[in-house]
Amino acid sequence: MGKKVTVVGAGFYGSTTAQRLAEYDIFETVVLTDIIEGKPAGLALDINQSRPIEGFETRVVGVTTGAGGEGYEAIEGSDVVVVTAGLPRKPGMSRMDLLEVNAKIVRQVAENVAKYAPNAVVIVVSNPLDEMTALTQLATGFPRHRVLGQAGILDTARFTTFVAEAAGVPVRSVRTLTLGSHGDTMVPVPSQCTVDGKPLSAVLDETAIEQLVQRTRNGGAEIVGLLKTGSAYYAPSAAAARMARAVAENSGAVLPVCAWVDGEYGISGVYLGVQAEIGATGVQRVVETPLTETELAALREAAEAVRAKQADVTNL
Ligand SMILES: NC(=O)c1ccc[n+]([C@@H]2O[C@H](COP(=O)([O-])OP(=O)(O)OC[C@H]3O[C@@H](n4cnc5c(N)ncnc54)[C@H](O)[C@@H]3O)[C@@H](O)[C@H]2O)c1
Repeated sequence: MGKKVTVVGAGFYGSTTAQRLAEYDIFETVVLTDIIEGKPAGLALDINQSRPIEGFETRVVGVTTGAGGEGYEAIEGSDVVVVTAGLPRKPGMSRMDLLEVNAKIVRQVAENVAKYAPNAVVIVVSNPLDEMTALTQLATGFPRHRVLGQAGILDTARFTTFVAEAAGVPVRSVRTLTLGSHGDTMVPVPSQCTVDGKPLSAVLDETAIEQLVQRTRNGGAEIVGLLKTGSAYYAPSAAAARMARAVAENSGAVLPVCAWVDGEYGISGVYLGVQAEIGATGVQRVVETPLTETELAALREAAEAVRAKQADVTNL
């Protein structure tokens, strides 16, 4: 049997993720679901008709799901489920402003995923990311390593892009890293960043680095401010698809993701952005990265901020 991946939510994030996953041509089936009648089926038809042009065989199946879980039988046997259901930000909103409305959506989705795809690895992208990942784990009852969130690959890609532009080098010459939360307590890690193998501090001055760090923290809001009607999806979908691929191929790739942290960095019992080895069972291991004292303090601060909010989601 070929691999099967489901993307829940056929909005901008979900539909571009489905497209990327189909174009990888490593899955037998991509299931795309939404609560809007006809939308996932229409998008699936459209993506499938690009197969002769792009040259892939993966079939996309679009399914409308009901409030009572109708339609969810289509996700049975999924190896991976990507949860994109939920509202995006509008200008002036923080990701945290989405907490209550998206918690209701994500809980309902998670319960159906647990029922119909009990062996899947679940990748959460709905915002606020760290809290929705924690909620999904609670609502599915899945082992923690099988529920993870997407934020770090995107935040890192943004940081890399900004550094490459500032240094005037190709993006492939740049390595960056962001840890922490997908929000105000994001922790870009300049000490681990390099340009052509040289430390970032040897290429850009402190003020320039701080400006890029701030732009990275604000990377999502910058795009929301320009789009006005929604949030980013090209780079976000590339990040989620990359994670789903690492699971499907059991690649063991080390990627920055939102994972359950249990003792690493002296932090326990919280979903947080860290580097982790990703494979068929989800998070195989959290990989500790050497950090400066300031970066470690910032990561611990992020953990406490997320912990306080994650406790709230239990009651939503
Ligand atoms: N983690 C990240 O890095 C990151 C980046 C960008 C966006 N996001 C988040 O991803 C989410 C989706 O963003 P988008 O741009 O696709 O928004 P969108 O409004 O385009 O799409 C959301 C879709 O979810 C659907 N939906 C709502 N309830 C559902 C349910 N119960 N079951 C299935 N589908 C349901 C809606 O009908 C809609 O089509 C938002 O919460 C956004 O904040 C996260």
